[in-house]
Amino acid sequence: MDPVKSFDHIDLSVLSRADRYKLLTGAVIPRPIAFVTTLGPGGLVNAAPFSQFIILAADPGLLAFSIGPKPGGPKDTLTNVKALPEFVINTVPQGWEEIVQAASEEFAPEVSEVEKLGLETLPSTHVRPPRLKGSQVQFECRLEQIAQFGDAPNNFVVGRVVVMHVESGLAKDCKIDPKAYSTIGRIGGRNYVRPGEVVHV
Ligand SMILES: Cc1cc2nc3c(=O)[nH]c(=O)nc-3n(C[C@H](O)[C@H](O)[C@H](O)COP(=O)(O)O)c2cc1C
Repeated sequence: MDPVKSFDHIDLSVLSRADRYKLLTGAVIPRPIAFVTTLGPGGLVNAAPFSQFIILAADPGLLAFSIGPKPGGPKDTLTNVKALPEFVINTVPQGWEEIVQAASEEFAPEVSEVEKLGLETLPSTHVRPPRLKGSQVQFECRLEQIAQFGDAPNNFVVGRVVVMHVESGLAKDCKIDPKAYSTIGRIGGRNYVRPGEVVHV
């Protein structure tokens, strides 16, 4: 018989915000990544990764991601969706680990991550921000709601999917082939996983 394991009982309320973040993001894994494109002032394309990302509903299709606070002002994605309530959630293929990490560095609002990182875009069909070329699935979204959570606070951005672009051949009868779908997940710190084994039950 396995020995009974002991546990550390951690009261999150006595920890620093940084330690809470480390524990939560190290435990809730792997997290898919929404690589969000928005339009900034002057039509500048902004791209930023968000792994606090979830399907909220399928009727209609609602996706949401949570934007944390930033010292000295809101993150550009939040500023942009408030000004132009449209965005694209691009899924992240394997091989883009360094790109998403680099896209999360601080860039001045007048700097486009897309240009800086050498990403290429494809025009969207229903919203103004473009899609990212190389991503196999993109969701064009209209802003549905922004809700605030926590003391900092986090801004939970909910988008209604107006159209979903799926690379040809990836889906059959609306089922996406998990073996042909290249994605990554974020785990704690600057670490990512690439899905391996598929267990069918
Ligand atoms: C893989 C990855 C996932 C991230 N997830 C989040 C997240 O869910 N929420 C958040 O506020 N920041 C997250 N970040 C940090 C943002 O990407 C970062 O603050 C970025 O500079 C925001 O860009 P913006 O100012 O252009 O919106 C993540 C970073 C990485 C590398």
